[in-house]
Amino acid sequence: MEEIKNKIWAIGGGKGGVGKSIFTLLLGDSLAQLGNKVIMVDADLGGSNLHTFAGIRYPKYTLADFMGRRVESMDEVVMETPINNLKLICGADDILGIANPKFTQKTRLLNHLKNLDADIILLDLGAGVSFTTMDFFLYAPNKIVVVTPQATSIQNGYGFIKASLYRRLHRIFRKDPKALEIVKRSSVPVQGENIDSMAKVYEALKPLKEDYVEKLMDCLNCINIKLVVNMVREPKERNVSHIVRSVAKNYLSLDIEDFGVIQYDRILEASINNMAGFLTGGKDSASRHNFYDIAYNVVKSCRELIPANSLIPTTS
Ligand SMILES: Nc1ncnc2c1ncn2[C@@H]1O[C@H](COP(=O)(O)OP(=O)(O)OP(=O)(O)O)[C@@H](O)[C@H]1O
Ligand SMILES: [Mg+2]
Repeated sequence: MEEIKNKIWAIGGGKGGVGKSIFTLLLGDSLAQLGNKVIMVDADLGGSNLHTFAGIRYPKYTLADFMGRRVESMDEVVMETPINNLKLICGADDILGIANPKFTQKTRLLNHLKNLDADIILLDLGAGVSFTTMDFFLYAPNKIVVVTPQATSIQNGYGFIKASLYRRLHRIFRKDPKALEIVKRSSVPVQGENIDSMAKVYEALKPLKEDYVEKLMDCLNCINIKLVVNMVREPKERNVSHIVRSVAKNYLSLDIEDFGVIQYDRILEASINNMAGFLTGGKDSASRHNFYDIAYNVVKSCRELIPANSLIPTTS
């Protein structure tokens, strides 16, 4: 069961344009080159474009076909890409109100994902902190947050992490009004209030019920977030990872793993209208080895799930 669950990786970031979709595509490609069966899912339900990046002009099927029950199983909406081992479930823009799926539609979708025939499933999330985006993020056992060195991206990336964590805490403590009030007060600290960090939430919850502290610790320990800094132009910008992780540690008591950096890549940016060409032809561009490094990190995280010979690249 764990094996099935561990293969899902969500890629979020809060801010638009930080490179979540490109990251999904190139990480997917690197993992596929390493011999893994990869399925990317365009879970940006309001602004799907991953299929265009993957070189699919007119998707035959999209998630809307699955949500609208026009196909019998999710396998039918999995499309081939020009890359061997790399497949895609295309997104759909607000067809049948899909941008705001109901809770039951979301759980059905997520439950079917687990059963797809793949070693690794990458969910490309939309920008912002909609409930749907956060629910997809929280559902995935592995979560990658992509930020760039821009101040607004750092802010939104941290905001996305915080909002997702609080969504989970709301759910955990929803049945106890007193506990919920503590969680709510800490999520929007008012001046003069003393619950302004997760450590203070811990202290405030302790007297309420014996197992609350344990529940809080479980939530913090299991959330499993990794951070990638994209579009790094100079060495000092690598420090962004340290900044975000320190703030998350100090205020949210979250241990976020440094998952690597990706250089700003001129060739990649110039290839935006022909990403399929970049995948097959841009092997020597500046950022390619960064994606391989992160792919190795992903494989390392699931190494108990993937046969050892998958770790050997099949292409140079
Ligand atoms: N490492 C990089 N070097 C140069 N340009 C990059 C890099 N990563 C992404 N880009 C560029 O950033 C732009 C935005 O990328 P992308 O569409 O993947 O962002 P996004 O976070 O998915 O946006 P949205 O939230 O709107 O879906 C693209 O033009 C892409 O080429
Ligand atoms: Mg995108």
